[in-house]
Amino acid sequence: MKQKQIEEEKRMHKAVGILLLAFTSAIAGIVSIFVPGTAGKLAKWTFFGVFAVCIIYLVAKRKVRLKRKENERIGKNVTELFFDWIRSEVSLDIEIEPPESGKSNEKMALDTPPKTTPDDRIKPPKKPQNILPPLLKKEINILLGQDKNQENIYWIPENERNWNFVIVGTAGIGKTQTVKAILSEFKKSKIPYIIFDFRKDFILLNGAQKSDFGRILDLNNISINPLDLDVISPKDQKYQISDIINLVYNLGDLQLGIIRKAIKASYEQKGISEEDNKTWKIEPPTFTDLQINLEKLAEKADSRTKTSIEGIFARLDPIFDYKIFSAKTNLPFKEILEENIVIDLGILPIENLKAIVCEFFLRKLRYYLNSLPESIYPKFYIIIDEAHRLKYEKNSSIGQFFKEARKYGVGILLSTQDPVDFTELVYNNLGGLMSLQLNEPKYAKKISEHLGGDIKWKEIKNDLSSKFSAIVKFTSAPNAIKLKILPYFKRE
Ligand SMILES: Nc1ncnc2c1ncn2[C@@H]1O[C@H](COP(=O)(O)OP(=O)(O)OP(=O)(O)O)[C@@H](O)[C@H]1O
Ligand SMILES: [Mg+2]
Repeated sequence: MKQKQIEEEKRMHKAVGILLLAFTSAIAGIVSIFVPGTAGKLAKWTFFGVFAVCIIYLVAKRKVRLKRKENERIGKNVTELFFDWIRSEVSLDIEIEPPESGKSNEKMALDTPPKTTPDDRIKPPKKPQNILPPLLKKEINILLGQDKNQENIYWIPENERNWNFVIVGTAGIGKTQTVKAILSEFKKSKIPYIIFDFRKDFILLNGAQKSDFGRILDLNNISINPLDLDVISPKDQKYQISDIINLVYNLGDLQLGIIRKAIKASYEQKGISEEDNKTWKIEPPTFTDLQINLEKLAEKADSRTKTSIEGIFARLDPIFDYKIFSAKTNLPFKEILEENIVIDLGILPIENLKAIVCEFFLRKLRYYLNSLPESIYPKFYIIIDEAHRLKYEKNSSIGQFFKEARKYGVGILLSTQDPVDFTELVYNNLGGLMSLQLNEPKYAKKISEHLGGDIKWKEIKNDLSSKFSAIVKFTSAPNAIKLKILPYFKRE
């Protein structure tokens, strides 16, 4: 009520102010016409002065309104936005010059950013606030290499329709060196990131807990409970978890049904019912309960079902043995989002196990990010070298991330030798695509489609044979750019 009164008073003061200005301006205008001499001149200048003030006020108000529209998600009030605008106008003069080549700074050539589609199964979107103010935002200018005129080529994520970046290239051609070069630039810009390292490419071989690229998060000291119910109902969880297991392990229909049944039974044993949301606060089961319930189902099963369950165990045994999903979730989210972290998946013995750890880790991270304020700047990167080891369907964790990363202030950097594995979902959500040589015509053709019409697939196959020769296409530039990447080992 009191708030309403204050608002009313404010509106009154504003109206009185505007009327006074209009009145002064009108009087001054009339006086300037009819009164000669100094008084007339004074009145004329008063008229122009008041007029100018009104125009400045209206322009500023419009800018603020436009900015507000653009930043609706931020939740700042008009005054804050007005001062942001003033600060950004002022800072234009003192900003460091953009990188020389400025090639990725060219005007946006493509359509406006696609709307991110929040997963409606995630509960409820919070009011955004607390984003980095414009003057504190971190500049990210990633030096990639040089073009044939020795001009530096930069990737500036913020200039792009999307902050995600993909590197493709045949084995041994320089992908990992390029990823490392980009990481060294992230470090210079103090951008936190997490690397999922499938092959110990980012780990020092002396076993130190810190690599050149960040702190190694010991997988023995963390746990993830995929069955948590912090943001999702038990029924949805049952379908999502079984879908992810299916994506990684290619289950049959019968096996998928059995896993769903075992997940449901695991919740029910803990007193959690799909129908009664009051029970969803109860401590959830873990994969140990899932394992026990699968064993129980096998005891009572006919021979066909028994064979199916044996098939499940043959695939999932490493998950149960490794125990990473058998305890309460214990992930240092704050450190992950503030530091440079390397997840050493190389310590896991089986490829599918690496993939499922990565899947559930990313899923948990996504839910955590969903609980934070949104961001309009890239403030954190997820890096996956050897990205072909994951699946990119829309129900996979990385697939979901691709659609939503931007609203979380997250960019994704992928590198792969198998670009056909990426779904259109990946290519539709990219800000930059870099191709090194691709020997396989099928791959070269696929990438030429995405690099733009002027790049023929045979160029990708035949003209990039020397290491670190590449073509990059940004959404902000109409044409792809040919360049020589400056590899990590040649950087200081
Ligand atoms: N420290 C270094 N000094 C000199 N040359 C290096 C160094 N590290 C890598 N290289 C060269 O860079 C090339 C590219 O290596 P990189 O690991 O980036 O390839 P890749 O595309 O990631 O290969 P893969 O598909 O096998 O992962 C190597 O073949 C090697 O010749
Ligand atoms: Mg590599």
